[in-house]
Amino acid sequence: MKYSKGSEVLYTGRVVKGMDFNKPEAFPLFANTSFTMKSLKEVKEAYSSKYTYVRTGNPNRDSLAAIVSFLEEGEDTLIFSSGMGAITTTLLALIKPGDHIICNRNIYGETFDVMTKLLPTFGVETTLVDFDNLENVKKAVKGTTKMIYSEVLANPTLEIADVPSLAEIAHSNSALLMIDNTFTTPISIQPIKYGADIVINSMTKFMNGHSDAILGSITATSEIIEKIRPIRMLCGTPGDPNSSWMAFRGIQTIDLRVKKQMANAAKLAKAFEENKYISKVNHPSLESFKQHELATKLFESNETMTGMMSFMVPEDEEKIDKFMEALHFAHYATTLGGLRTTLNHPVTSSHSHMPDADRRKMGITPGLFRLSVGIEEPEDLIADFEQALKIFG
Ligand SMILES: Cc1ncc(COP(=O)(O)O)c(C=O)c1O
Repeated sequence: MKYSKGSEVLYTGRVVKGMDFNKPEAFPLFANTSFTMKSLKEVKEAYSSKYTYVRTGNPNRDSLAAIVSFLEEGEDTLIFSSGMGAITTTLLALIKPGDHIICNRNIYGETFDVMTKLLPTFGVETTLVDFDNLENVKKAVKGTTKMIYSEVLANPTLEIADVPSLAEIAHSNSALLMIDNTFTTPISIQPIKYGADIVINSMTKFMNGHSDAILGSITATSEIIEKIRPIRMLCGTPGDPNSSWMAFRGIQTIDLRVKKQMANAAKLAKAFEENKYISKVNHPSLESFKQHELATKLFESNETMTGMMSFMVPEDEEKIDKFMEALHFAHYATTLGGLRTTLNHPVTSSHSHMPDADRRKMGITPGLFRLSVGIEEPEDLIADFEQALKIFG
């Protein structure tokens, strides 16, 4: 193409002088893989203090990371391509051959596989333990133990990890405590305040909240983050600009969304407990929940625990199908934390690989449903479940 003033503007984009000039009301999307430089002086400046290439740094990722650090009250945050990207990259960065990890047995399926299948191939030893008895955790500690790993609430029974006690065990043995806050979010609990060293969130869930982007985050001290950052660059697991921009928009309403979801879940749990077709309800706000006392210590109130819950209906597959079809609001989805209420059936999904007897020992029967409660009006949700549950009559 022949050079002209017009093409210079077209290809260099110099009409846009940057955010200061335009003062955009919403944070813009930097959908570029690279930033440009005009001289070696600019190149040197960029490498020392500015953005260069998208896998190394991007303003959308950084702006989102700043919000997550603020919410988790942590020193620094890295944004990853997914929750699993955050977990695997962090473990690769911090754990070495010969190290030992104590992991809660009741853990997200893919994290379970990382602990039991992937890490052993790198010479890392993992011990799975039931975290409902802390003596199990203490007994599992070895000289090589470098990390204790758990989710705040177990899927789908919502057993609570005693984060402050786990932090004490970890730190008295010079190990790190890594906590998955996906089911709870920093609106419910900030694990760092209770002594956790590393907090992971699958931002695909409540943090973004709109079921339209996949991302993960790690929040920790700057010292730990600076060990993980170069490994994220080598593994190629940073979050992409577009998803980061979407999650930035989603996370700005997290306080409104998640507070309503948690309050809705507490209301629904109470109503379910009174329903004659439901034999068991798992939500930490209920007095019948076996760790309710621990829940009242860790969370501020019954309405700010979690938007997740599970409940048990009769084990009649034909009626279960009719029950699901009769629901107007809640619908089956293989995710959680979105605006709308979603159902999940652990026996046919997350726990399908397990023998029935083992599942039953964990309280997971073919009648158990996990529920991610949305922002709908709680009265509508309760009325809808009550009409659909009559199918079991
Ligand atoms: C508790 C928990 N942690 C981690 C993950 C992994 O997140 P992602 O799907 O964003 O990789 C999930 C996914 O469902 C999860 O439920």
